[in-house]
Parts: sequence; structure tokens; C-alpha cells
Amino acid sequence: MAAKVKVGILISGRGSNMKALIDAAAKKDYPAEISLVISNRPKAKGLAYAAKAAIPQYVIDHKDFERREDFESALSDALKHAKVDFVCLAGFMRILSPDFVREWRGRLLNIHPSLLPAFKGLNVHERMIDAGVKLAGCTVHFVSSEMDSGPIVGQAAVPVHPGDTPEILAERILEQEHKLYPASLKLIIENKARISGAVVLFDDDIKAAGALSNPPA
Ligand code: GAR
Repeated sequence: MAAKVKVGILISGRGSNMKALIDAAAKKDYPAEISLVISNRPKAKGLAYAAKAAIPQYVIDHKDFERREDFESALSDALKHAKVDFVCLAGFMRILSPDFVREWRGRLLNIHPSLLPAFKGLNVHERMIDAGVKLAGCTVHFVSSEMDSGPIVGQAAVPVHPGDTPEILAERILEQEHKLYPASLKLIIENKARISGAVVLFDDDIKAAGALSNPPA
């Protein structure tokens, strides 16, 4: 098998998507290896799992930097030092400047807990319930300089049920996030999904079957 592509993961908290990527990459036939994990928060829970998995992990605390560009240079330096090919944002809750995004363009991915371009930003689950949507979900996308925007790689949908709380809905979506992120990254690395202008195109053989309808139709 060809050498594995090197991936860096940026986190700010729990790190469950980071864990899903680490666990996928631990499999022999997965085309990526996780070269490092960086947290901008010293107390991010995800750091402990990265340590357990023997992945080099670093804290680059944004509070230690007066200027955003210096914080981002430190991030970029660490990623370049580890020679990563791709960077996955996994619950990384800092907005990245256009300069950073430009530097990593086409190699920077994010996961967001909604079917983008709907419900960008924060408090997504509560806002979806309040809006009465019947399908929710998650999106993996290349990062552009606007928040929660950029060419969409993959999406997974789940139903919203009466009585759902934001926590219950978040849990249902998270289960899909953990599958979608490793699957989307794999497609990109294997060049079966490619950026074409503002969108991502798949190879012809990649097609989801059936439909998710709520109510069932
Ligand atoms: C995930 O639900 C992710 O989609 C979301 O934060 C959570 C992080 O959880 N990201 C965003 O809202 C980005 N705009 P995790 O730390 O357990 O992966």
C-alpha cells in the first residue's frame, strides 16, 4: 500500500470527532495517519485520548498570543513541522483568518452539525428544533474564509423527533459525524472527491442509495 497521507487535527474540546479520525486511521487500509493533534485550549478533554493513542499532541493556547496572526503562525509552523498534507478541524472553535485559510486552501476540512448552508454558527441544535425542521444532519466541507462555508464534501441526515432536546438531537447527529468525517477524508485522499470551483465532485461510482424522509413517504 502507498505511504499514508499525513493529517493534523485541531480541537478545542471533547474531541469525539478527533477520536473517530484517530480510530479510523489506526486501521491498516485507511489512507491517512494522524501526525499530530493541536488544541487551543489546555484543558481540552480530547488531549487525553490523543495521548493514549500515542499521537503527538500540543497545546497552542490562543490566549498566549496578542495577535491572531501570531497564534495562527504558531499553528501553521507546528503543522508544517509535522509535514501534514491535510488539516482537519474537529470542534475547533476559533475563527481562522483568510490568510491561514489561503495557506491551507484545498487541504483544510471542517465538520459542522447541520446540513449546510443551513444553520451556520453556534447553538445549531437548539435553532434547528426551534425552526421545526424535520431533517437535521452534519456536513464535512473544505474551509473557505467565511464561517462554516466552503465546498461541501459530504452530508449525513437524521430525523428530528417530537420532544427532541438539543442534547438528544446533538447525540443523534454526532453518531453520523463520527462516520462521515473519516469517510469524507478518505474520499478526498483517494482522489475520488475533488474540488471543482465552489463544489466537490464525486467519481461516478459514489452514489448514496434511497432517501431519508420524515414523515416516511
Ligand atoms: C461537533 O458536533 C462538531 O460538528 C461541532 O462541534 C462539535 C465538536 O465535538 N463543530 C462546530 O460546530 C463547528 N462550527 P467534538 O469535540 O466531540 O468533536
